[in-house]
Amino acid sequence: MKSFPYQISNLEEYHQAYQKSIKQPAQFWEEIAQNFIWKKKWDSVSEWNFKDPKIEWFKGAQLNITENCLDRHLNKFGDQAAIIWEPNNPNEQNRVLTYNDLYKQVCQFSHVLKNNGVKKGDTVCIYMGMIPELAIAVLSCARIGAIHSVVFGGFSAQSISDRLHDAKSEFVITCDGAFRGQKNIPLKSVIDEALISCPFVKRVIVYSRTQIPLNMIEGRDTWWEEEIKKIETKNCNIFEAEVMEAEDPLFILYTSGSTGKPKGVVHSTAGYMIYTNYTFINTFQYQTNDIFFCTADIGWITGHSYLLYGPLSAGATTVLFEGIPTWPNASRLWDIIDKFKINTLYTAPTAIRSLMSYGLEPLKGKDLSSLKVLGTVGEPINEEAWHWYNTNIGKNKCPIVDTWWQTETGGILISNLAGITPAIPSFATLPMPGIVPCLIDENGKEIEENNVSGNLCIKQAWPSIIRTTFGDHERCRKTYFSTYENKYYTGDGAFRDANGNYRITGRVDDVLNVSGHRIGTAEIENAINQHKGVIESAVVGYPHDIKGQGIYAYIIYNKNIDDVIALNNNITQTVSNIIGPFAKLDKIQFVNGLPKTRSGKIMRRILRKIAENDLNNLGDTTTLLDPNVVNEIKNGRI
Ligand code: WT7
Repeated sequence: MKSFPYQISNLEEYHQAYQKSIKQPAQFWEEIAQNFIWKKKWDSVSEWNFKDPKIEWFKGAQLNITENCLDRHLNKFGDQAAIIWEPNNPNEQNRVLTYNDLYKQVCQFSHVLKNNGVKKGDTVCIYMGMIPELAIAVLSCARIGAIHSVVFGGFSAQSISDRLHDAKSEFVITCDGAFRGQKNIPLKSVIDEALISCPFVKRVIVYSRTQIPLNMIEGRDTWWEEEIKKIETKNCNIFEAEVMEAEDPLFILYTSGSTGKPKGVVHSTAGYMIYTNYTFINTFQYQTNDIFFCTADIGWITGHSYLLYGPLSAGATTVLFEGIPTWPNASRLWDIIDKFKINTLYTAPTAIRSLMSYGLEPLKGKDLSSLKVLGTVGEPINEEAWHWYNTNIGKNKCPIVDTWWQTETGGILISNLAGITPAIPSFATLPMPGIVPCLIDENGKEIEENNVSGNLCIKQAWPSIIRTTFGDHERCRKTYFSTYENKYYTGDGAFRDANGNYRITGRVDDVLNVSGHRIGTAEIENAINQHKGVIESAVVGYPHDIKGQGIYAYIIYNKNIDDVIALNNNITQTVSNIIGPFAKLDKIQFVNGLPKTRSGKIMRRILRKIAENDLNNLGDTTTLLDPNVVNEIKNGRI
């Protein structure tokens, strides 16, 4: 029995759905959209061009995404768990929020936002740990029509300040602190530091999680709990959802690229809702009453789409875990799976490789028989990790979906469908309905054949494609729509096999993927160069057993400095202060010069080869200004 009329339940249906989605996209998406709650239906299903770009889905329609994630489930699933929250410390009591609970708390907090001056169209920065209140804050913004901009708790004060400026956010929602493994992260004091350079922030709402002492600034800061009390005394447990246009922005999420500061990727309401719901239900083959566990932080797109909006719009139970897979020990995820009888686990290859390194001991006595489907996301999965996951976690009976997508795509674009289309280790396999991938060769021409590699692009708009980069539409056009005419450029390379299956080979631009997190090399170099002792730097990625890619920095430093060890530590600290602790330099090599062409361009290809220890394939070095620097760098390799 299909849990949803638009759920694909066999291979033939996949092919039918795919063909229809390409030949009659409007009809295809319209039929799916009929299953949602609208205040007003659309005038046209989609209108788009990649030239400007201008992309509109369900134009003319009106809705509120939270009515689709909450209100519509109350009759049938009101008492079912919407969110199961597992705290960092296994000895602390977990919390279960039913759909009724979540609805009530979102309504209450929507009143709090309104009382504090937040209006439709305002941008609200959310900087919190992984607690139910983070989900409540996000959904409440959506309910009142404010645009949420969630900033991952691992970002520094400087990064927050940049994002507040860029998004012009006058409101911040945060916690006193966050528990993550052994760490107690002082979120509010990071916010205080960030706000020194953001005098335009009017209000900071603080949820108390870790009870660490902190400064509350009168007139600006207020406690979440006290605000809720005010609402409770008035018994305001219902909040009429704001009427939103289909194309009204739902959120901004910052992500790194190959140049400049991170950009605010903007997603809009209706298309994002339809596509995350559709891909959630089909990729993971979600069945009513399944318990879904996505280990990503809500601060990244995976958390937005497949911890919150996708599962909640499907009426699923979603697990929100505050901690990390390896604390207090490497059995943590397996214990959570057994505790809640989780059916689907969606995690990153880096987590799998990290857990793999502990051997099988942490799995002793763990049942895991509730699992039906496994998923991976964020980076290519190597075959060894895939087989370990399949054998030891899925016990060879759970299909593994390898889901390829990006912050900009909003939802999964290329993936097998669990148990429906075949899995091939290290391949994301086939496109989702509505997605038309293509490969482009070095001359910018599309490659039609199979068994080829090229730059991965997408030829048609899908409902949750990026709409703009906040405040700078031209940057959006340049980054994604100008490299190849009429195509969305992904920045990834891919191989296509004889049967049309895609294998993602990694970024082809200057973007690194460290533990499934995207960081631009230029961004890291800018941070390194802020250190007074640094003259110049160049950063590349290299293969790292656990993180996928590690960060390798070549640095020319000021010769007046004699304590090089201290310098090394200070530079690491500088990067952590400017970007955040998660952007850790794995290797620093001090050099006297960098391999530059006569026009002054750093030849990263050579630096990459040296970092990868591929010393005999450096290629042509004759165009270098000073070919000798290459030998020196080779000899000093770390
Ligand atoms: C980049 C996007 C999508 C949510 C998490 C990351 C890489 C993502 C896969 C996969 C190989 C993958 C790509 C992509 N990537 N999923 N299944 N196989 N590579 O989102 O931070 O926007 O990063 O992650 O390189 O471009 P993101």
